[in-house]
Amino acid sequence: MLERMLSVRRPAHESSVAEEGSESEGDESKTRKSYTNLSLLFRNLTTRFGYIWPCLLFGLLFLSLFFLPSFITQSRTLVCTPFDPTSRLGLFGFGGMDSEFGSLGVPWCRSKQGKTSEWTSKDLLKGLEEFVPIYETRPIKNNMYGMGFDHSFGLWFIAKWLKPQLMIESGAFKGHSTWVLRQAMPDTRIVSLSPRHPEKYLRKGPAYVDRNCTYLAGKDFIDFGSVNWKTMMRKHGVDDLTRVLVFFDDHQNELKRIKQALKAGFRHLVFEDNYDTGTGDHYSLRQICDQFYIRGGGHSCFKDSDEARIRSKRKGFWDKAVDLDGLCGPGEEWWGVRGYMRDDFNHTNKAISYSEHFQNSRYVESLLDVYWELPPVAGPSLTHQTRYDPARAPNPLVEDGKYGLFQRLGLTRLDKSVFNGYTQMVYVQISEPDS
Ligand SMILES: C[S@@+](CC[C@H](N)C(=O)[O-])C[C@H]1O[C@@H](n2cnc3c(N)ncnc32)[C@H](O)[C@@H]1O
Repeated sequence: MLERMLSVRRPAHESSVAEEGSESEGDESKTRKSYTNLSLLFRNLTTRFGYIWPCLLFGLLFLSLFFLPSFITQSRTLVCTPFDPTSRLGLFGFGGMDSEFGSLGVPWCRSKQGKTSEWTSKDLLKGLEEFVPIYETRPIKNNMYGMGFDHSFGLWFIAKWLKPQLMIESGAFKGHSTWVLRQAMPDTRIVSLSPRHPEKYLRKGPAYVDRNCTYLAGKDFIDFGSVNWKTMMRKHGVDDLTRVLVFFDDHQNELKRIKQALKAGFRHLVFEDNYDTGTGDHYSLRQICDQFYIRGGGHSCFKDSDEARIRSKRKGFWDKAVDLDGLCGPGEEWWGVRGYMRDDFNHTNKAISYSEHFQNSRYVESLLDVYWELPPVAGPSLTHQTRYDPARAPNPLVEDGKYGLFQRLGLTRLDKSVFNGYTQMVYVQISEPDS
């Protein structure tokens, strides 16, 4: 319990990585140079005029340096300026973000041994550099209702890192995620399950159909939970299920999916939409692990509480920030979505009691060897995303203010709409609960 309370805050990303691409290096020499020039100037003036005039001069310089910028900032708020998310952040104040983060709490699942991913932010940044030009060649440029840039990168990175012997995808839509998997592993067989075959979309516009893929789609569609995976794996020559990567983007209850995957013997899973509490169309791992007994992870449903005020303020800025109406059901049921466990694109939903919800988190966490949420690729002032609330997400790989790095990675070349799909994609490694 104590361990849980202490570990509820996410560790910051290794600063060494962020600093690697920081723009401060170049600027440092500039600062040093101007400092040397200033001290030289001071020495020259004192030798010529004594101390009074130089002191007055430096006093004036000091005053203008400190008051001019603040005057400019203040006066900017008086005029109409075009939309700029940086100024939104300015409203909260960069320092304020952290405390809000803490007061709302950011839920995530605890793994059995507290193990996290093998890869570091440094690996991710390196991957990002490699992935941007690949992403630019995607066949489906407008993938509305499918994955955007952040999750495409996450899936590509995980698949490339794990080097699976087989990849399974549930929920293909027009085939963008199939294409992403193919970019990561050019020769690995894919099994794709989706009620509508991606080739059907080809009639109307761009879609991707893979040549090295077994489609359980269209008339051959079978739900992931009904496939005889033993037979299917034998058919594909896979004898080691720990070498299989399963990707879910089918908007099904993730508790149901994790149980089915465990029963089949799969260990490596990625869930595309890991919705926050109070949002989304299916019960997600993040919702499941959001438990009242975690300090800071609980939610207040009182309309005049501090949390309510913070939430409603944030809702004005971020489309998917959760407000009290989304969070609290009629009996103040905040878990899942207003006390419901949603499934199948919210076509079915079931009210669950808090104790059932609590047991679900206990069960899920008893399976987890690794739980890793993909961070957003870059801060909202760089991507201009308006969808997710940055206070409810891990620190971005390219943090706000690091425009140079954002540009160097090629991210400025992408249309900003591709950054508007982040929903905390998660990679988990699972095994039977310890006895
Ligand atoms: C959000 S889309 C997937 C987007 C896709 N992965 C991409 O990157 O573009 C969800 C897909 O899940 C499919 N779907 C619905 N029910 C399903 C099920 N039970 N099993 C697998 N796929 C399902 C839908 O038809 C739809 O194509």
